[in-house]
Amino acid sequence: MTLIKNDSVLWLAHVAKEFFPTWQNRLNLTDKNIIKPLGHNFYSVQFNSTPTRGFLSDTIFSRYWLPVHYMWPTKCEEKGYIEKCAQGLLVKFKDKNFSNVVVFSLDRKQQKLASNLRGRILQVFSEKLKEKSPAKLLTEWTKKPILQPIYNQTLIVAISEKCTWAGLSTPSESGSFFAGGRRYVGVSNESIASRAAAKFVEAAESLQLSGLKTENAKKWLELGAAPGGITHELVEKKCEVWAVDKADLDEEIAENPLVHFYKMDAREFKVNMNFDALMCDLNGPANISAKICSEKTSLLKKDAIIIYTLKIHIADNFEKDYEQALKEFSLKNCQFLYGRHLYNNKQEITLFFKKK
Ligand SMILES: C[S@@+](CC[C@H](N)C(=O)[O-])C[C@H]1O[C@@H](n2cnc3c(N)ncnc32)[C@H](O)[C@@H]1O
Repeated sequence: MTLIKNDSVLWLAHVAKEFFPTWQNRLNLTDKNIIKPLGHNFYSVQFNSTPTRGFLSDTIFSRYWLPVHYMWPTKCEEKGYIEKCAQGLLVKFKDKNFSNVVVFSLDRKQQKLASNLRGRILQVFSEKLKEKSPAKLLTEWTKKPILQPIYNQTLIVAISEKCTWAGLSTPSESGSFFAGGRRYVGVSNESIASRAAAKFVEAAESLQLSGLKTENAKKWLELGAAPGGITHELVEKKCEVWAVDKADLDEEIAENPLVHFYKMDAREFKVNMNFDALMCDLNGPANISAKICSEKTSLLKKDAIIIYTLKIHIADNFEKDYEQALKEFSLKNCQFLYGRHLYNNKQEITLFFKKK
């Protein structure tokens, strides 16, 4: 476990309401003075000492971590807020190193204010930023946040009606290319637009943030593929997909020459192949899907990435199901990388493994 570079003890986190108790247990901090709800699924956490990156990652249910270096009680609706805030940040961060600035509001209603504030902050730091990131690059990162280098030191500012928080972090450390961790995915095919497709896009980005790319994986095994949202995303990336499901795949997708559809129970699926990667989105009890999926990892090449969605039917059973799933994959020689409750995951988390 590596110590995170910054030395902050106060952090902001974004956690879905229904999994707050599970997250709190994983943090092992139950004192109300330590974790404070800020509204809109954001919380502040006051640690005793700087948490390690591994510790923050193990909490699974935070989609975003922002180390807070400075915070001010503010009234963002008040006249002069933008200028006061930008000048305050200039004083605090003028000697710090960063190549980008992002601002997000806890309450999405203030997104326009956040955007205007970012514009003014970029102006006050323009001299400093132009050395590292020319205006063209900043515009590109604004339009397409996934183009940001994952270790790009960034000044991150969060605003709410009552407070402004600011800290330095990177997309990799915070866990998302998108400030605040709210990732809206525009899926590439409207007729089969699905949350499944969105969670796959986000899962691939999450791997990228961890320094693991899926671009070289061209032959995918997909378990629980119907109706085909994820299959479609893979085909768009020019991947060949062996898609398995008891239910029907969307007709147009099934007819795509890159797709080999097997309408059957995943347990019965057998081919003599070596796949580059495995995506498993089987529904049903987690202990069954973990068993089916881990057994199919015998069809993978060494170092292949496995993306497995663990369905959470009863939140109270989460820890048991999670331990059981890790055990199944470990028995099949798969290294556990990490788990995350992605923004596009609802009653499930996404687990990442690597075939040894
Ligand atoms: C959440 S849906 C998958 C959504 C899909 N990934 C997409 O992108 O559109 C889960 C799927 O798992 C399939 N499934 C569950 N258990 C299965 C099994 N034992 N064998 C094959 N398919 C199964 C269901 O038929 C269902 O289509």
